[in-house]
Amino acid sequence: MDDGQMFRQIVELLPNGVLLFDLDGSIQYANPAANEILHLGRSPGLDEHIKLFLSSARNGDTETVELSGRTIQLAYHDRMDGEHRTGAALYLTDAGDRRKQEFTANVSHELKTPLTSISGYAEMIANGMAKPEDVIKFAERINREAKRMLSLVTDIIKLTELDETQIMEEAEQVDLYTLAQENTETLQPAAMVRGVTISLSGEASVVFGNRSLLSEMVYNLIDNAIRYNRDNGTVSVRVHQHVLTVRDTGIGIPKAHQARIFERFYRVDKSRSKATGGTGLGLAIVRQICEQHHAEIRLESREGVGTEITVTFPTFHED
Ligand SMILES: Nc1ncnc2c1ncn2[C@@H]1O[C@H](COP(=O)(O)OP(=O)(O)OP(=O)(O)O)[C@@H](O)[C@H]1O
Ligand SMILES: [Mg+2]
Repeated sequence: MDDGQMFRQIVELLPNGVLLFDLDGSIQYANPAANEILHLGRSPGLDEHIKLFLSSARNGDTETVELSGRTIQLAYHDRMDGEHRTGAALYLTDAGDRRKQEFTANVSHELKTPLTSISGYAEMIANGMAKPEDVIKFAERINREAKRMLSLVTDIIKLTELDETQIMEEAEQVDLYTLAQENTETLQPAAMVRGVTISLSGEASVVFGNRSLLSEMVYNLIDNAIRYNRDNGTVSVRVHQHVLTVRDTGIGIPKAHQARIFERFYRVDKSRSKATGGTGLGLAIVRQICEQHHAEIRLESREGVGTEITVTFPTFHED
């Protein structure tokens, strides 16, 4: 094998994309990794982006592009023949799924906060710095933070399980009204503490799906309707012909946040949500469950007036 062949083989095996351009900006060579990335971005956006970057970049410049949820890093290099520039080379690195990266960063952050405070309080007790009357107080805080972590970890496990398992294998006929009734009862004490009244209306409506996931979904929606309500507010749950509606008279969600609250860890008011033990995963779980059941979820909300969430299930199954 001569040197040329050997280099070619190396370039073809590289996990990073290599693109060589001539002086006119036409592609002279693309290795398989580059082709894969370019193929991924068959959106006109990438070509445009690359053109723009090529025309303005200097040796060593880098830039990142978002491509169907992935982060692609572009690095620019001049191709030289002695003193003469003969074209350009671009190195493309697929930095992975942006949502996964953010998720990991968020998880780490959310776990670090309670852990820091747990170990801080435990340390003070261990080395005798805490006065006897403080010990109980510290233990309560440790307990509270540990519970927060536990519920966070439970939620994360749920989300990853949802990612992987074939939940529809366990699908059965599930009555939404019964689920609404059960979860309303479960959440009654939480509502009472806030002076919130829950009402349930409608009639039996059977859908095809995974009972425990659907129950989780109903729970999360009613839980939010109570948690983000005002004192003495109301929550109305209604089940009617494959449609579940949860309406509250709460604080509402400002327009600017409405598109984002279904994202993992997204909270409109971090301090309020945290004070009530929220981690911002509830609606992400709801959305995922909806997707798996081919149900459509809609949100209507007005700041200071209230929120209504409607989940519409497909109707291809006989009741
Ligand atoms: N019914 C509602 N009224 C007003 N704001 C809401 C309502 N439901 C959700 N939100 C807003 O959307 C955010 C995300 O909700 P989500 O249920 O995902 O997380 P959370 O309630 O903060 O925590 P948890 O993971 O415990 O459910 C909340 O923090 C809140 O700001
Ligand atoms: Mg919630």
